[in-house]
Amino acid sequence: MSTSLKQIRLAAGFPGVNNTTVWSDPAAGSQIAFDSFRHVAQTAERGKLDFFFLAEGLRLREHAGKIHDLDIVGRPDTFTVLAALAAVTEHIGLAGTINSTFNEPYEVARQFASLDWLSGGRAAWNVVTSWDAFTGENFRRGGFLPQDQRYERARTFLRTASELWDSWHGDEIVADKETGQFLSTPAPGGFTHEDAHFDINGRFNVPRSPQGRPVILQAGESDEGRDFAATAADVIFSRYSQYDQARAFYADVKNRLPKFGRTRDQLLILPAAGFVLGDTDAEAEEAAREIRLAQVSPATAIRFLEQLWNTDLSGHDPDGPLPAFDPVVSEIGGLVAKGNAGARQLAKSPVALANQWRAKAEAENLTTRELIIEVTGRQSFIGSPATVAAEINRFVQDDASDGFIIGSHLVPGGLDPFVDKVVPLLQERGVFRTEYEGTTLRENLGLAPLGAVTATPVAW
Ligand SMILES: Cc1cc2nc3c(=O)[nH]c(=O)nc-3n(C[C@H](O)[C@H](O)[C@H](O)COP(=O)(O)O)c2cc1C
Repeated sequence: MSTSLKQIRLAAGFPGVNNTTVWSDPAAGSQIAFDSFRHVAQTAERGKLDFFFLAEGLRLREHAGKIHDLDIVGRPDTFTVLAALAAVTEHIGLAGTINSTFNEPYEVARQFASLDWLSGGRAAWNVVTSWDAFTGENFRRGGFLPQDQRYERARTFLRTASELWDSWHGDEIVADKETGQFLSTPAPGGFTHEDAHFDINGRFNVPRSPQGRPVILQAGESDEGRDFAATAADVIFSRYSQYDQARAFYADVKNRLPKFGRTRDQLLILPAAGFVLGDTDAEAEEAAREIRLAQVSPATAIRFLEQLWNTDLSGHDPDGPLPAFDPVVSEIGGLVAKGNAGARQLAKSPVALANQWRAKAEAENLTTRELIIEVTGRQSFIGSPATVAAEINRFVQDDASDGFIIGSHLVPGGLDPFVDKVVPLLQERGVFRTEYEGTTLRENLGLAPLGAVTATPVAW
């Protein structure tokens, strides 16, 4: 019997703008002050986590003409935050979500190459493709990209950025100390790229960085999104943290790799996961219940309901049953929360989903608020530290994931108990590092080196 255990990959997602962050807790702090970012990143590094992760939203979400409560904390610029964190951390990877629809390759390639230099090889890019017209209004004269072109643009965007990163050849500058003459210098190569999305040529202005290119993450679930990840990504950030769904997603994506000439260990799958700890499993369950109540206030429950019903429900009683009438079916717009992917998912078949919700509420005798608490997802791991460590390990050893991007409901101290209580148990089991193995993020994630620059750098 093989005794080799898979090593778990763990990242810390900064608890951003979402309905799972609890502001009412006395320990809740700023979501935008540097101290909060620093605390989470340094805590994650203390726990030897692989990387710190920032999601991104390019437009404040709104609903019925009002900005979502949580969005008013704002969304500071990803590169600025990660560059500042590079200065106060030494080992942990720094992953930023950057959109391929509303940016340009030269600029993004330069920003990631700079971050990789500043951090000594710790940069990672989560390539997302959000395309909606609502976000697009902030960019490019209000123009946006049709949905069916977003992955085509993402693919060519990443290919173009790689051409820029790979355009430098040669070693570091070596000079003769006596004469001052250069013995060797890196050579910025020229680049020319022309396709339906980009028509650029020139010279890239940042030398090849320690990792060569950032570690590439992808977050998207469509068939096209999965293929994109299978061809070009090192890591997938997924939503699937329930065991059966996670295993199915894992198998699906890993089975796509051979088609693109890649092996199973070249793509890591890390679902988002929340946790609640207690001294005993029962205490943790009780704490989780309290947290869910704080996460879904009566007002939040009504806002959520309005997204599916697509009509004003401000007079609806959150402690009563679900509305007896069916949702209003219309094109995206109206009261559906603008710019909210969740709302788009909800809007796909609203009447069918409303029927499911009613059936569940009736069967389990749930009020509107209780139902919303159930359907908006509970934390993935609830229990004593021993229970949570065992569950995380089970997921990974059973090929339901390669690890997790851990989120918490509290900024900035929410990750601390995970690092203090769960990480040591994983280390005791021999499934999580006790020291960083390498200097770059790519090395720490156990990903194969990129190798020398070739004319066609990657398979796609
Ligand atoms: C787990 C997960 C996290 C995501 N995070 C972001 C994000 O931070 N910012 C963003 O603009 N889009 C984000 N997305 C949206 C995806 O990039 C993509 O636009 C969306 O999922 C639609 O692509 P799909 O049809 O392939 O799923 C995320 C998606 C997933 C599944």
